[in-house]
Amino acid sequence: MLDETADNLSELTSGEESRRQFLTKLGLGACAVTGLGAALTVADFLEPKVLFEPPTSFRAGTIADFPEGTVRFNQEQKVYIVGGAAGIFAMSAVCTHLGCITRPMSGEPGIACPCHGSKFDLEGNVTHGPAPHPLPWLEVKADAAGNLTVDTSVVIPHGKALKA
Ligand code: FES
Repeated sequence: MLDETADNLSELTSGEESRRQFLTKLGLGACAVTGLGAALTVADFLEPKVLFEPPTSFRAGTIADFPEGTVRFNQEQKVYIVGGAAGIFAMSAVCTHLGCITRPMSGEPGIACPCHGSKFDLEGNVTHGPAPHPLPWLEVKADAAGNLTVDTSVVIPHGKALKA
């Protein structure tokens, strides 16, 4: 009887120890997972979140490239550079209706939008809707050597052409 009780007690102790070991391991595992999650969150927070965008300025040739009557379409930049009577100016090729890219018209002077039929004259004024506004003019600068730079992030008033 006494031996039987001692055996039962020994089984109970070893069973309790294995349960305790299991719970300890479970707790340590939960702490490790939580610690790893916190470490990853802190590492993500410390990583710089910089948005790299392409430059808004680009070289557009020289003043001599734009005698009066010249219209050049820079497809990559979505910009027209025009040599007008008042000087050189640049304007956005993005239609003011819903943002399609306009194109120079073939056969007649002007600019047309392929999406809904808007038309613009060579100064960007609307000659046929539905575009609600003229094409915006963009800043053009020339250095001392006559090299032109267009900045697509700076909109200027219509009529403010760069004097050649
Ligand atoms: S987007 Fe140009 S006319 Fe509609």
